[in-house]
Amino acid sequence: MTKHAPETDTIPRHVAVIMDGNGRWAERRGISRIEGHREGLEALRAVVRGAREMGVRWLTLYAFSLENWSRPKSEVESLMMLLDRYVETELEEVIEKGIELRTIGRSDRLPPRIQDRVNGAIERTRGNREMGLVFALSYSGRTEIVDAARKLLRDAELGKIDPERLDEKTFSEYLYDPEVPDPDLLIRTGAERRVSNFLLWQIAYTEIYTTNVMWPDFREADLLEAIRDYRTRERRFGLTSAQVSGARDAG
Ligand code: FPP
Repeated sequence: MTKHAPETDTIPRHVAVIMDGNGRWAERRGISRIEGHREGLEALRAVVRGAREMGVRWLTLYAFSLENWSRPKSEVESLMMLLDRYVETELEEVIEKGIELRTIGRSDRLPPRIQDRVNGAIERTRGNREMGLVFALSYSGRTEIVDAARKLLRDAELGKIDPERLDEKTFSEYLYDPEVPDPDLLIRTGAERRVSNFLLWQIAYTEIYTTNVMWPDFREADLLEAIRDYRTRERRFGLTSAQVSGARDAG
């Protein structure tokens, strides 16, 4: 690599995805939004397989936001059904491929049957190390930060935390899953350019890639394209370009 060809020459360790566009994909075809979510599940399956094969270590998928609870009841029920179906039909393959399932979010709001299914899958995949697959379920980035602050305040009251010594590292240990590193790459499909309350704390230095591809059409080739684009980026983390290339040449 030359000094003037900035690249991150590795596969991103953690890819996070805002899977958007299911509804519009369906509406354009004159079919129900639920059909769009169903095809979205096919995209999800393909991307999990692709990410695992490409050597992505962590994959976080925004499957259901806290705000999504306000969608029409039939749509919410369909999304729950699809989640249930995914876990039911893919669990054996997930185990065989060494994937560990995790969730972030207020999953205590999910229907008890779904909670049981998801918790069972988390148990059965615990400790798998090929890839961590994190489902953001009933998730809101701001709520995650508020939930962290609440736990932290309780610990401060108990004298376990000295407010004067609080730093970013300690705060981040109160987030939903502190073991998962910050995303390197955030992909948003569906032609929107918003962050939509996703991983607000964690994406401070994440590279963002947006595409007009609607989520139901997204496949391994699109993931590869996003990763190719990521690899052309120079991640500076607030430093200058010269500092970054100097450190790279030294390292
Ligand atoms: C956004 O599309 C997508 C979602 C709200 C959920 C993502 C769901 C799946 C990928 C299907 C599998 C489901 C689960 C829960 C695993 P949108 O409906 O907001 O699309 P629009 O912006 O075009 O209306």
